[in-house]
Amino acid sequence: MSAIASKKNLVVLTGAGVSAESGLRTFRDSDGLWEGYNVYEVATPRGFNANPELVLRFYNDRRKDVAAAQPNAAHIGLAALEEHFNVQIITQNIDDLHERAGSTNVTHLHGEIFKMRSVADTDKTYPIQNDIKVGDLAADGSQLRPFIVWFEEPVPMIEVAAKIVRKADIFVVIGTSLQVYPAAGLVDYAPYETPKYIIDKKIPYTASLFNLTVIEKPAGEGVADLIKMLL
Ligand code: APR
Repeated sequence: MSAIASKKNLVVLTGAGVSAESGLRTFRDSDGLWEGYNVYEVATPRGFNANPELVLRFYNDRRKDVAAAQPNAAHIGLAALEEHFNVQIITQNIDDLHERAGSTNVTHLHGEIFKMRSVADTDKTYPIQNDIKVGDLAADGSQLRPFIVWFEEPVPMIEVAAKIVRKADIFVVIGTSLQVYPAAGLVDYAPYETPKYIIDKKIPYTASLFNLTVIEKPAGEGVADLIKMLL
């Protein structure tokens, strides 16, 4: 048996709260406004069709925010756990802070801010560090847009993520309000006996989960506690 195969599968579902201490704002901690915008204006295909300039500018600003942010103790702690576990991160976040902290298995459910795609092709992505503007076209001749899964769009990675969660030996949820489906439904795929942990400043509601430990703390401190409990 290889060293990797003998490690337990530690599956971690993260949301905006894991990046809060890096200075990136969460969505639902500010009355449905995201950086001062109505989420539906900037995060739906309808919003994009109605005002592409606004939506592109919004994500151009988010890209700058993420580029300026640094991984925090939570991202770094999770990356360090790879020494002991086969850590698989499933994130709802569009930032790359898990990767920059050193995590090597990261599945993004809602897209990635440093990628873009054409409006016509959901699959082919291109790297992007700077701004996307109206009139910037992909190789297929259509407008480029951020590679973000908006509300009212399918979540292509959800099946992959569900398979990962089904194999969890330990399942951890960090910094998500568990209000957005299908991502929130992943919690129900963890095997019944699997030890489960939720780390959040304010523990979100879940239907009763067997073998659950709640750590009601900010992510950085909560991950430090988790590491002590696991090792
Ligand atoms: N440490 C830990 N948890 C925190 C912290 C912190 N420092 N700050 C906030 N939180 C928690 C909040 O208590 C809340 O439970 O993080 C969670 C953030 O919830 P949301 O803002 O709803 O973010 P998230 O669950 O990731 O949103 C899901 O919604 O808008 C869409 O696509 C977007 O991926 C996003 C999805």
